[in-house]
Amino acid sequence: MSALDRPRIAKLLKDGQPGAAVDVSGWVRTRRDSKQAFSFIELNDGSCMANLQVVVDANVPGYAEAIKQVTTGASIRVTGELTASPGAKQRVELQAKTLTVLGTADAVKYPLQKKGHSFEFLREIAHLRARTNTFGAIARVRNCVCDSIHRFFQSRGFLYVHTPIITTSDCEGAGEMFQVTTLGVGRGTRDEGLGKETSGPVTAAGAATPSLDPRPSSLDPYANDFFGKKASLTVSGQLEGETFACAVGPVYTFGPTFRAENSNTTRHLAEFWMIEPEMPFYELPDNMQLAEEFIKTIVRDVLERCPEDMAFFNERIDKNVLATLNHILEKDFRRVSYTEAIEIVTQADRKWEYPVKWGDNMQAEHERFLTEEHFKQPIIVYDYPRTLKPFYMKCNADGKTVRAMDVLVPGVGEIIGGSQREEQLDVLLQRMEECDLNPEEYWWYVDLRRYGTVPHSGFGLGLERILLLVTGMQNIRDVIPYPRFPKSAEF
Ligand code: 4AD
Ligand code: MG
Repeated sequence: MSALDRPRIAKLLKDGQPGAAVDVSGWVRTRRDSKQAFSFIELNDGSCMANLQVVVDANVPGYAEAIKQVTTGASIRVTGELTASPGAKQRVELQAKTLTVLGTADAVKYPLQKKGHSFEFLREIAHLRARTNTFGAIARVRNCVCDSIHRFFQSRGFLYVHTPIITTSDCEGAGEMFQVTTLGVGRGTRDEGLGKETSGPVTAAGAATPSLDPRPSSLDPYANDFFGKKASLTVSGQLEGETFACAVGPVYTFGPTFRAENSNTTRHLAEFWMIEPEMPFYELPDNMQLAEEFIKTIVRDVLERCPEDMAFFNERIDKNVLATLNHILEKDFRRVSYTEAIEIVTQADRKWEYPVKWGDNMQAEHERFLTEEHFKQPIIVYDYPRTLKPFYMKCNADGKTVRAMDVLVPGVGEIIGGSQREEQLDVLLQRMEECDLNPEEYWWYVDLRRYGTVPHSGFGLGLERILLLVTGMQNIRDVIPYPRFPKSAEF
């Protein structure tokens, strides 16, 4: 049987029948030897949390030699017969007929020889941590969430569009972009002995000045750069998403997003994945409804499709995670205006690290208080002060607020940010001026308001934020395979 057709361990444990011939490969989790010249191997191939118990005895050719190399972390291939297991832990086990050691793992050096490493330590061996129960489960749940996201939009007729990773516009206007340039180290200046090696090909905007091509060709310092103007990694695909939504109907993007915010928190990454749907003819209440259905669908799918991994998270990571998720499914998300939210926070009987008043950004402590303690459920905060939000959000008639919405959930805080978009040309231009943006640099975005403008809305969900919610994990660096954060991009 070719490797393509061999059932993996998840399938064997679920459907495998005693008597079936089996050919299986994976990594050894543990080995126990009995005095009667046979051994139990716990074999894992990543297809599920559970291991396949393999029984190897002296009838297996080369048993005595091979078994010594079967240590934790080694990779092996076993053929044999599935038998009903006398043990209570599993329905079936594998009685080996042949055993091949594919790759050994030095028992002294293998970092996962022992169990119970801290998440901090495992981050330093990110290339191996997926072999642990926790990180294997996270990988499977992350996959399930991504599949659920595509199904959610595909079943509703949304088109998946790919917006650029390299861009020349700052969607959020927060100046947190990583610059993309071929000037700098190793290019132009170094050969000419000019400048210092301050910046690599990608630098945080503002963090280091890129060395520039010294040839006097243009006033624009980027005229000789690869794209002929200043380019960066995208902080959001929204603006480009809007152009497609206003042509082909509802769309969504799902891709990597980059932010050079220097925040060393358990909720921020420098590289994260964001899902951004954009819908023509949707107003803010429609946008909220879609966001709520979206979150609930993901939660429901994970509970349904990953029961074993979810039971593990509930037992080992967060004893309340299943209760929290079931609670989320039961209730309608509460809609709370920003003004109301600030009132609740300021009237609450507690001392805040950062006191707030109307017009201030709510801090994580306020958001967490609202969703975890006051409402005890997910909430959607809407109609934020215009001074706090980006230029593209639709202005309300009160002249003070915009049609923004943030979805806040217990345990995490903000997982979604979105809004209805300003579709009126004159108001948009005025907002750009307020935000100190040059409309000429956004000419193509402004064009949408010139030619067949329509009301439209959208939002962005942080993939890793919803993974924190569904797994109960505490640190965002542990729900992405290779986290990027200040001073860290080793793997
Ligand atoms: O609230 P944000 O900044 O909104 C936007 O980018 C809009 N353009 C989205 C839209 O309307 N199309 O980011 C959206 C979400 C946040 O709610 C959060 O879940 C996640 O993206 N996010 C981050 N996740 C991890 N690390 C970071 N540094 C994040 N910044 C935002
Ligand atoms: Mg936000």
